[in-house]
Amino acid sequence: MAKPKTVYECIECGKVHPKWNGQCSGCGAWNTLEEAIGTVASVKGGGSYSPVRTQNLADISYDDDVRINTGTGELNRVLGGGLVVGSVVLLSGEPGIGKSTLLLQICRDISGSVLYVTGEESSRQIKIRADRLGVDGENLQIAQSTDMLAIIAAIENPQSKPDVVIIDSIQTMRLDTISSTQGSVTQVRECTNALIAVAKSLEIPIILVGHVNKDGGIAGPKVLEHIVDTVLYFEGDRRLSYRILRAVKNRFGSTNEIGVFEMRDKGLREVENPSAMLLSGRPTGVSGISVLCTMEGTRPILAEVQALATKSGFTSPRRVANGFDYNRLCLILAVLEKRMGLFFGACDVYVNIVGGLTISEPAADLAIALALYSALCDITIPEKLACFGEIGLGGEIRNVGNTQERVRECERMGFTPLIGCSNLAEVFTAVGSAENIKKE
Ligand code: TYD
Ligand code: MG
Repeated sequence: MAKPKTVYECIECGKVHPKWNGQCSGCGAWNTLEEAIGTVASVKGGGSYSPVRTQNLADISYDDDVRINTGTGELNRVLGGGLVVGSVVLLSGEPGIGKSTLLLQICRDISGSVLYVTGEESSRQIKIRADRLGVDGENLQIAQSTDMLAIIAAIENPQSKPDVVIIDSIQTMRLDTISSTQGSVTQVRECTNALIAVAKSLEIPIILVGHVNKDGGIAGPKVLEHIVDTVLYFEGDRRLSYRILRAVKNRFGSTNEIGVFEMRDKGLREVENPSAMLLSGRPTGVSGISVLCTMEGTRPILAEVQALATKSGFTSPRRVANGFDYNRLCLILAVLEKRMGLFFGACDVYVNIVGGLTISEPAADLAIALALYSALCDITIPEKLACFGEIGLGGEIRNVGNTQERVRECERMGFTPLIGCSNLAEVFTAVGSAENIKKE
């Protein structure tokens, strides 16, 4: 029998240490080691085991994933077409962003019965919120508990067997069989493992709410992200009303899709036309602004790019990229300088993708370049012009995928897509102010 032994586990990365230490050797964080009970397994002892059954790949059959319609189009889209039965989904985001609101709200339209386990709020608070959201709760059972074994018993109860389970939040759950404190890595991980086993054996989907810590990671273990099937992030600026739901891991679908919501006084409203939302309030007649057509998964979206170039007071000028890759910004600045004679060397440069979007596709290059050109030369880009295209090191414009979809979205929104230019010089001519380019 393996002997239980006290070990120390890092609450950030989950690395196990035989002795306590001030700093974790796994992730370098300080004061993150916590006591945990481990077992020192002996591989030499020749213990008992049950033989592993092997199967020829050709003999393994499967049915298509069975999915439950959540009744919320934007959530279905991010999940890849609905909740897969037997899957465990982690929904994480900052406190107050709207995780509980989203999950309670889907209970209104979801097909099937739901067990909503609340470890954070009282049943009364949930009821007040449900009334605000217009959730009548015919199909909804609320359980106020943090005791994992009792919750699992409730899920397995054949009389109330729910079709979907929501756990709000996983950090408040505890297994009494484990001595670690509530919210510790060991507790969170073991509770999740127990729920995964239940989800797989009963073939029901379980949604876990996970908090993010101040660094933006899911509190406690990164390991949580590895063991669940799908990880969704709910993000947005809390001062603004819109929220973006994004899959960062999805075993049953793509991770490119985003869902857009707007927080209203009666809950979250789906935004089916994100382009209109992202472009609303766009200033006109101002330099440094261009419109980008980007693909978020299968959906083309128009977004506003803003750039500012100001005289620098620093020895090495600042470059700040918000929602865009910093190195890619430096590359575009270098191409503009070398190929187009636009000198940013004495300027601080700030680039911002409006609306909290993060763009990683190279198709954004052209809009960034146009916004920078417009900011430096103080000219305005025609208001109804949208662009997309990758910029090569020679200043050439390279083709990007999904041209047809992008052009269609531009036209639908009443924008003219800037297409058919083979290099930056042609683009600047097309924009109509090529003569303003400053040569050294
Ligand atoms: P909540 O779902 O409790 O956040 P989380 O579970 O992620 O911590 O959302 C809380 C915020 O949402 C709170 O600041 C109030 C706001 N809210 C609305 O604006 N409208 C609504 O209809 C509801 C229910 C909440
Ligand atoms: Mg909550």
